Amino acid sequence: MDMDGLQTGAGRSQVRTRVILSHMSGVSPNRPQKTFYLETFGCQMNVHDSEKVIGTLVQEGYRQVETVEQADLILYNTCSIRDKAEQKVFHRLADFKKLQAQGKKFGVLGCVAQQEGHKIFERAPHVSLVCGSASYRNLPQMLVQIEAGKRSTGLDDRQTDECFETEFTARTNPYRGYITIIEGCDKFCAYCVVPFTRGKERSRTSDSVMAEARQLVDLGYSEIQLLGQNVNSYKDPAGKYSFAELLAAVGEVPGVKRVRFTTSHPRDFGRDIVEAIDAVPTLCDHVHLPVQSGSARVLDAMQRLYTREQYLERIAWMKSAKREISITTDIIVGFPGETEADFEQTLSLLEEVGYDGVFSFKYSPRPNTPALTLEDPIPDQEKARRLEVLMAKQREIQTAQNKKYAGKIAQVMVEGRNDARGQWIGRTSQNKTLNFTARGQVALKAGTYAEVAILSSFANSLLGEMVV
Ligand code: 5AD
Ligand code: SF4
Repeated sequence: MDMDGLQTGAGRSQVRTRVILSHMSGVSPNRPQKTFYLETFGCQMNVHDSEKVIGTLVQEGYRQVETVEQADLILYNTCSIRDKAEQKVFHRLADFKKLQAQGKKFGVLGCVAQQEGHKIFERAPHVSLVCGSASYRNLPQMLVQIEAGKRSTGLDDRQTDECFETEFTARTNPYRGYITIIEGCDKFCAYCVVPFTRGKERSRTSDSVMAEARQLVDLGYSEIQLLGQNVNSYKDPAGKYSFAELLAAVGEVPGVKRVRFTTSHPRDFGRDIVEAIDAVPTLCDHVHLPVQSGSARVLDAMQRLYTREQYLERIAWMKSAKREISITTDIIVGFPGETEADFEQTLSLLEEVGYDGVFSFKYSPRPNTPALTLEDPIPDQEKARRLEVLMAKQREIQTAQNKKYAGKIAQVMVEGRNDARGQWIGRTSQNKTLNFTARGQVALKAGTYAEVAILSSFANSLLGEMVV
């Protein structure tokens, strides 16, 4: 999932500023402190990559600052999943170009860096560092080069078998610890730029994932989110665990209270994942399973590698689970050649599944992707219309879905407070936002848990009162 799309579902996690550095070893006291500013666009993978980049920079003697003006080095970790996301970085670079005169350096990281490569230097000559995510482990050497006044690129590692493993990770989310278990993507869906920007699929060993899970518990985290473009395509290089086994094992680490995972690909989504959720209480009752379209014809043109029926079979597994699993998805409207009848099929799928949340997007043509050459593009106005129809339908579905929670009691993890409303913000295991009041002067810490009686429901959230 990424953060520039339209959301009708449960809230997305936000980047917080508090930084907990795990395993920071001695930074040379004699080196003057250089400063950096980092802004992150895009999905949770990018958010977590940034945590590792921050850790690497701190280890190299840099200090993170909150504004562009305070920084010696200005970095953007970018997203190119849709054109709108891609344009954001070029706007930022244009806005701050004048700061180059003060000796500030600029770097572009992530998917736009990988996709545009050296062209970035032409479009924004004040940039001195361009580095794709598969090359982050070379950042220390690249920093030395740009400090010496040279340009540096990290663009040639997409075929690597290695993941970006580092013990220097800045933990910027106060209540959720991220662990990347698999990087890259080999699926090559016809619309998607990710296989070109993040490189080939490669998994971390289960031993290193388990070690990181234990380390997160030591740091005080009780919620862990396993990350990957397709987490359930995970293949343990050591051959020890399947994805479902790894999920269960992380859930059984003493001190872990909640485990989430995103994103799953329907083709590789096995029944064993549902069985693991049923068997291990710490695994959250939520699966994000992007469908993209409800039309068999469009799914085929998208090269999604499953049919509507196969997708619905996976939904049926989840619906027959002992626990009530909430299901969310991603949908693209206006893929080339999508007819009104195809679109109707997507609407009927929404009804049939009864999603708890949908992230919906207008198709955006991306460089290098096979869909670029497809005929019959859908005019933007029509894409916008379909998006609106879809969102209105999903809103009705969610409103109805959420009604069933009123009168129930749920455990939430406290994520923060909305002072203006006098409410605490909580998240249920099913990934629903549950805002609640608490009698008296209680001070709840982010990352702790509370029992909440649900009083009413809306399309995007629930409202309740803490049970004392
Ligand atoms: N246009 C629109 N949406 C896209 N996505 C991926 N590529 C594109 C594109 N070219 C959406 C998919 C994916 C989510 C992360 O972004 O729905 O699941
Ligand atoms: Fe893109 Fe498809 Fe890979 Fe997801 S599975 S990252 S949509 S190519």
